[in-house]
Amino acid sequence: MNAIATFALEKFYLTGFWRKHPKQALKPLTLEVPEGEIFGYLGPNGAGKTTTLRLLMGLVKPTAGSSKILNGTIEDPAIRAQIGFLPEQPYFYDYLTAVELLTYYAQLSGVPAGERQRRVASTLDRVGLAKDAVHTQLRKFSKGMLQRVGIAQAILHQPKLVFLDEPMSGLDPIGRREVRDLIASLKDEGKTVFFSTHILSDAEALCDRVAIVANGELRGVGAVAEMTSSLGGNMEVVWEGEGANEAIKALGRELRVAGAITRSVVPESMLNQVLDILRAKNARIISVTPVRATLEDYFLQKLAQTSGGAD
Ligand SMILES: Nc1ncnc2c1ncn2[C@@H]1O[C@H](COP(=O)(O)OP(=O)(O)O)[C@@H](O)[C@H]1O
Ligand SMILES: [Mg+2]
Repeated sequence: MNAIATFALEKFYLTGFWRKHPKQALKPLTLEVPEGEIFGYLGPNGAGKTTTLRLLMGLVKPTAGSSKILNGTIEDPAIRAQIGFLPEQPYFYDYLTAVELLTYYAQLSGVPAGERQRRVASTLDRVGLAKDAVHTQLRKFSKGMLQRVGIAQAILHQPKLVFLDEPMSGLDPIGRREVRDLIASLKDEGKTVFFSTHILSDAEALCDRVAIVANGELRGVGAVAEMTSSLGGNMEVVWEGEGANEAIKALGRELRVAGAITRSVVPESMLNQVLDILRAKNARIISVTPVRATLEDYFLQKLAQTSGGAD
């Protein structure tokens, strides 16, 4: 079953003082996320990620198109009860403590009274909020700590499907790692996680599949390994002896020379030609190693492609 499905979901905002200028924040988006996946929704700032999440959460109305959540609609309270959401900039009442706030949310989301205290404590523990912090008023929290409270709020009621808008924002490298581990553990429990990020390394190791959006438009979707292998391989060649360098430069390759050792990255299709030159010029070949393309390579390539529709 699909946890999320969108059908030509589209959003124009009316901007300007008279709200006369339509701005297309999301071009018709058709996307499916099966249950049990960790799905990364990637794109630079302004790509339309938050708009998509707001549409999925029913916080703004689509201009056209529709979406299904857990085979139902987000308006259905029974569906809503199975969903957790971390907004991009969560705001909490300053004078509550993390325990007070989450106890309130637990009550709202129907966690039985007898279980609330234990559930709140275990959730705060799970998001890595230190024991002494949980009784401190939220106004004294750092951005990273508030982000953890936001994540706790999103998973407290043990939802089946969790939406997180930039969950790693405001966190230091250790915090990012902890959130990554937490998302992975949600998947282990059989939950579906849909999260947005503009930081590719956060998604690369974690996601089953990712979508790439830019300028409100879907540019690619698939498994990270598929995306990166579609770029075609490059090989790094290292050799000793300068006799061949001019000829390889003439192929348009960049050389990095350190003493007697030269390295160059060449497309796989050019490898034999380069090796032939090296042999002919009696260079000593030290190594030939495939260079793995990263999600970043794919991402930059997709962003470089001109948009298909009118802008
Ligand atoms: N309420 C709004 N009114 C007008 N324009 C908006 C509104 N919200 C977002 N936008 C515009 O829509 C585009 C996409 O924004 P957003 O979805 O926030 O992107 P992202 O989350 O990927 O950074 C941006 O150009 C932004 O300025
Ligand atoms: Mg955003």
